[in-house]
Amino acid sequence: MYDFKIATGDTQGMYRELSRSLAALVSGEPDAVANMANAAALIWETLPDLNWAGFYRNIDGELVLGPFQGRPACIRIPFGSGVCGTAAKSGKVQRVDDVSVFDGHIACDSASASELVVPIIRDGELLAVLDLDSPTVGRFSEEDEVGCVELATILARAL
Ligand code: SME
Repeated sequence: MYDFKIATGDTQGMYRELSRSLAALVSGEPDAVANMANAAALIWETLPDLNWAGFYRNIDGELVLGPFQGRPACIRIPFGSGVCGTAAKSGKVQRVDDVSVFDGHIACDSASASELVVPIIRDGELLAVLDLDSPTVGRFSEEDEVGCVELATILARAL
């Protein structure tokens, strides 16, 4: 059993501990699905105020739903569509304070108000995107972005 109790008071400290815990969880495990599943669970358990946390994988140039926590979600997203497809196509983090004003946002869950999507890239190849949704407008700060980019860096070696 894994029992990670990560304090959430100080955001930078929380991401430091989250990164350490994630690195420990994926260490020595080559199975990408297992690692994404544990990563989604760890993030979901740790980060406050989320309604969805998980992955879309790059399968032959299309995003396909991967391990996640939250409500059932859209299964396939073309590159360039929605927040996830924009992150996949551009290779750039998408931090959206208010999804209602993001052109083409795909509303899998009407509760989602803000979203952070981080591409997971190894050797120039997009492997997947990490997608976090929150019911609160402006939930994701610059510190969240930096912290999640670090998580994506750890995952790039574990998928
Ligand atoms: N909102 C995303 C779709 C995925 S769900 O949030 C789980 C988007 O616009 O790409």
